Amino acid sequence: MNVDLYLTPIKFTSDDLHGRTVVAIDVLRCSTSICAAFQAGARGVIPTDEPGKATEAWSKLGADAAVLAGERGGIKIESFQLGNSPTEFNTEVVSGKLVVMTTTNGTRLYNLANNAGPVITCALVNISKVAARVAADSNDLVIVCSGQDGRFSIEDTICGGMLIDLLETAHQKKLCINDAASVARLLFQSNKDRIRQAVSEGEHGRYLASLDCQKDIEIATSIDSIPVLPILRDGQHILEDGGVLENRCDTFAKQDV
Ligand code: MLT
Repeated sequence: MNVDLYLTPIKFTSDDLHGRTVVAIDVLRCSTSICAAFQAGARGVIPTDEPGKATEAWSKLGADAAVLAGERGGIKIESFQLGNSPTEFNTEVVSGKLVVMTTTNGTRLYNLANNAGPVITCALVNISKVAARVAADSNDLVIVCSGQDGRFSIEDTICGGMLIDLLETAHQKKLCINDAASVARLLFQSNKDRIRQAVSEGEHGRYLASLDCQKDIEIATSIDSIPVLPILRDGQHILEDGGVLENRCDTFAKQDV
């Protein structure tokens, strides 16, 4: 299997992605919050790149069917119901609803991967589930790290490196990887016993701590704590089986943080 990892997003052509599975990573916090929304029973998550587009999509769906969520600079957008903290996506608010979401970096990833094959949301909270899904088919793989404002981020790179490591170790896959993927694997391997610490010490980890969002980092670094597989279909993330998660629960309540 060929694996190309991108440390930051680039504009892909559909040829770049043809016949490949795309894994999109934004550990802090978009990917983690998408997983948390499904854990809390959301029917789907609609990613949009701009607050105006998100509001328009939400208005069309109506408040009974959808919830509007998003942040800019890590802070909830005024007039939106939810920000982008995984703690906010609880059963009371999102169960049975669609979540229309816009975030500074993470939700933009899904536009870049337009017209590609399967696009899977990956975070540390669902990484083994993603690894098993990717290992199960013969597609080559593109891993895109969201980063921060076009810059490298340690948490997404560690997550990408862990995915590669799992494919090689847990799934015994023979991989042909690009140099960025080698760097990501090394970064994961040298931090595998201190992932939470490494993420907390990173730029975005420190920024979120300054916003008093340490709990979000604890949730986002709880490996395999939300085993869901969100996959993008027709502009909407759904669970791969198309259904709503059984035994839904609140991520925040489930994590002892
Ligand atoms: C993003 O998409 O840039 C992030 O999810 C920002 C955040 O921490 O809310």
